[in-house]
Amino acid sequence: MTTQEYIKNNQQKFIDELLDLLRIPSVSADSKFTDDVRKAAEFIRTALIDAGADTSEICETAGHPIVYGEKIIDPSLPTVLVYGHYDVQPADPYELWDSPPFEPVIKDEKIYARGACDDKGQMFMHIKAFEAMNATNSLTCNIKFMIEGEEEVGSDNLGIFVGENREKLAADIILISDTAIISNDTPSITVGLRGLSYMEVEVTGPNRDLHSGVYGGAVANPINILCEMITSMMDKDGHITIPGFYDKVAELSAEERKAMNAAPFDLDEYKKELDIQEVKGESGYTTLERVGIRPTLDVNGIWGGYTGEGAKTVLPSKAYAKISMRLVPHQNSDEITDLFIKHFQSIAPDYVKAKATPHHGGEPAVTPTDSVAYAAASAAFEEAWGKTPIPTRDGGSIPIVSLFKEVLGLDSVLMGFGLDSDAIHSPNEHYGLFNYRKGIETIAMFHKHFARLSR
Ligand code: BES
Ligand code: MN
Ligand code: MN
Repeated sequence: MTTQEYIKNNQQKFIDELLDLLRIPSVSADSKFTDDVRKAAEFIRTALIDAGADTSEICETAGHPIVYGEKIIDPSLPTVLVYGHYDVQPADPYELWDSPPFEPVIKDEKIYARGACDDKGQMFMHIKAFEAMNATNSLTCNIKFMIEGEEEVGSDNLGIFVGENREKLAADIILISDTAIISNDTPSITVGLRGLSYMEVEVTGPNRDLHSGVYGGAVANPINILCEMITSMMDKDGHITIPGFYDKVAELSAEERKAMNAAPFDLDEYKKELDIQEVKGESGYTTLERVGIRPTLDVNGIWGGYTGEGAKTVLPSKAYAKISMRLVPHQNSDEITDLFIKHFQSIAPDYVKAKATPHHGGEPAVTPTDSVAYAAASAAFEEAWGKTPIPTRDGGSIPIVSLFKEVLGLDSVLMGFGLDSDAIHSPNEHYGLFNYRKGIETIAMFHKHFARLSR
């Protein structure tokens, strides 16, 4: 039997196994789910052994565990290190799901569950491709798996693990499926990711909540002030006004921008899918550029005062917001964090106190298109999809990619199979059965072409 025949014959089994994994609510951000996160790690460890790994182990960290497994068939052959994550984002708000997030259902050829796409579904394709290659004696590369449980909370402990296990993780390439393709008609390979700097801010006015009639109009309202401060951080052209923010931003050449905008993109379809009349972003850039190569500043949450039922007349003492900045080459997240803190304090008027503290961050990444691994990924798409994939820059962040380069000296191939419409991080996250099956096929082909082109 060929690898591709094995994949075809085992479609239902592969789906059933993924559904079992999706039933484990491995939410890394919420300590209520700590035991479930470990259960998911144990599930992956066992799945690796069942698929044919020589060894598979749970590696303890200061946080959630990392699963490591490998099969070395011949040290003289190239080694592929697969990275993925088995943790998921919180499923809140639960009431917006059409079916419970941890009770996966298949509807219209799609699997609905938290993590169906990001990243359980995409990560699990690698274990199944490995199983198929192993079962049909078709492994062409050594394979190592490093599957973490803290991607959605910043991968702090993975960074430590990588630094401490350079030899164990030695490989020729890192292979990751945790990104998107343009569409099922237009496959693509991600060659750029944005970085991230994530802040929490607090503005304090009076020393206690006040009656908004007795004091209103005479004392600064920290929520009003915070809104003004946030508004002032972006001008009418969508430029961020933090001094120095753009100093290191790499500008693309006219040619590079032209190539980027040659990718198929239907603005009307985009607006329709989001139910918006118009898009909005930095002047002078297209939508593809705005998410691919330009930095951002966005409020992710804002709160303070009274938000319960009915009305309470209160002039609050404090206001808060969580603010993210997506970064592009060659911005540095620590530098941007410092610039933000300085600026935020400098624009606070005398009648409030302002404080900004950083959460996790990460560096942007670009991956080469002139490498053997890129050529292998491209050949795999050509064989499986009958089309040459287009290189694209995604707006999301996988901070560990730049760390792999820095610590292990390794480039990553970002061979994702999700769609932007899969609703990752949102209610009703889903993953197409087509993408799941095609992904497994394409991954197996990658191993074949990578070995061939590495010779
Ligand atoms: N898989 C995503 C990142 C992603 C999504 C990249 C779509 C490209 C296209 C990843 O799990 C993620 O959500 N990353 C976080 C960053 C992390 C530090 C919390 C993000 O981008 O917000
Ligand atoms: Mn992910
Ligand atoms: Mn995610």
